[in-house]
Amino acid sequence: MEYNSAVDKFRDDEYPNMSQGAYLDHGGATIYARSLVSSFSHAMISNLWGNPHSENLPAKLSGEMIDSVRIKALEFLGADPEHFDLVFVANATAAIKLVADGFRDLGEKTPTKSFWYGYHREAHTSIIGVREFTAGDYHCFEDDRQVERWLECPANNTVRNSKSTGLGLFAYPGQSNLSGRRLPKAWLRNIRENPQLRNTYTLFDAAALAMTSSLGSLFSDPDDAPDFTCLSFYKIFGFPDLGALVVRRSSGHVLNLRKYFGGGTIAQLFPLNGDKRIAKKIPGLGDQYDMWNIHDGLEDGTLPIPYSWQETEVNQVKDVISRHCNYLARSLYKSLMALRYPNGFPVVEVYVDDPTMYGDPSRQGATFAFNVMKQDGTYVPWTDIERLANDAGVYIRAGGVCCPGGVSKALEYEEWEWNRMFSSGHACGANEMAIINRRPTGIVRASLGAMTTKADVHALLMFLHNEFIIQASGAQSPSLLEPSRDTLRLPLREMNANYSIAGVAYLKEP
Ligand SMILES: Cc1ncc(COP(=O)(O)O)c(C=O)c1O
Repeated sequence: MEYNSAVDKFRDDEYPNMSQGAYLDHGGATIYARSLVSSFSHAMISNLWGNPHSENLPAKLSGEMIDSVRIKALEFLGADPEHFDLVFVANATAAIKLVADGFRDLGEKTPTKSFWYGYHREAHTSIIGVREFTAGDYHCFEDDRQVERWLECPANNTVRNSKSTGLGLFAYPGQSNLSGRRLPKAWLRNIRENPQLRNTYTLFDAAALAMTSSLGSLFSDPDDAPDFTCLSFYKIFGFPDLGALVVRRSSGHVLNLRKYFGGGTIAQLFPLNGDKRIAKKIPGLGDQYDMWNIHDGLEDGTLPIPYSWQETEVNQVKDVISRHCNYLARSLYKSLMALRYPNGFPVVEVYVDDPTMYGDPSRQGATFAFNVMKQDGTYVPWTDIERLANDAGVYIRAGGVCCPGGVSKALEYEEWEWNRMFSSGHACGANEMAIINRRPTGIVRASLGAMTTKADVHALLMFLHNEFIIQASGAQSPSLLEPSRDTLRLPLREMNANYSIAGVAYLKEP
């Protein structure tokens, strides 16, 4: 853990738009650096880029650039191109859907005509959606213990109707997009080594994890690595809006059997009725120019131009980012816990399994899920928090954040209560029913990123302090009288002085 004060120095130059407020929604999308966007626009304007699927020079320029960025991306992720291939897709969801397509189509060839699907409760909605491709043989693991029990004895379990040796896929997030909790990587090897699970593959959702953590340890040993890993580059670099599916080469055969093909992924076919033969781009086969690779058979249609980051820059900073975010997360957690009303009641309820997790990168990322309470202990609607924070120039996200299992875990909803919420008409993202029967239906999420500074974190604390503690003590604070973005621009020393109003020292060294 170490604060990287260099961020304060380059923020104004590289992220000038971040002066528009305290941006704490990096889990939604992180912010793009000025140099990234200007080098992209320079490259676009000064070169003639074409559609890569041809031999004309502009086409070749695009094709070569895509291939070189593919290698750079694999290197950045710490995945050796000898053992892994990278498929460019629109986003993490498209990567998940690609894997799901492969399993549905291979599943049709099995005796059950389908496949088994297991997923962890803290998964993103995009992971849960895969269950619709099964014939009802799926299981949501409610917690880590349940996964571990299944791994101890896959043959004797209640999680699946079909045989444990049948075709299966187990998916889980490396980091919960709701709470920032990091889930064990050891399950990947446990599944691969278990003879009962020899036909169960793993889909690791790295979309939230990759934001502020290096994935090097995930790919360092191909035997421990996921079969399929999805992520979104815009959550790492802010730009370009592009995702990736990293495929362990020795598991790529599942995806070769995907039925759909489109421009770019088919080598030859009979277009008319009758002969249905097709020649798909299968790895190992090829044409007179090249051998096909896994990605050749999976990138349907024309890719966007991924011209982007410089490998040297990003490789140097990924560990620094992790330490920086850890430092800030540990500090913010302590400061949130210290926010108390004059009557001693806490202002926030942070949803974390164990308070020691913040600052331990193996268990926790720099994301906070919480709700705000009044001094009588009743909840403030999360919709109000997002609105008031907006007015104060603090940008956080609130609601179900596409993680219904995470919400139900955090808020300890029982199944019947969730049922009641369902039937009441509460919809994810809707504003009307933030509280039902005195319980919140969602959470507030603050997620930190590589370029988050102490000032951003202070701004969140100051917002909560001004809006709730000061108001409860009946005092007037400048930000209550007139919400002003100037508060965000205060030097740290002055901000700390403001904190002394409550007699609490926020953001001390962890
Ligand atoms: C853990 C996780 N998985 C999947 C997704 C979906 O990513 P995308 O919207 O880029 O497809 C997200 C997005 O927030 C996420 O955090």
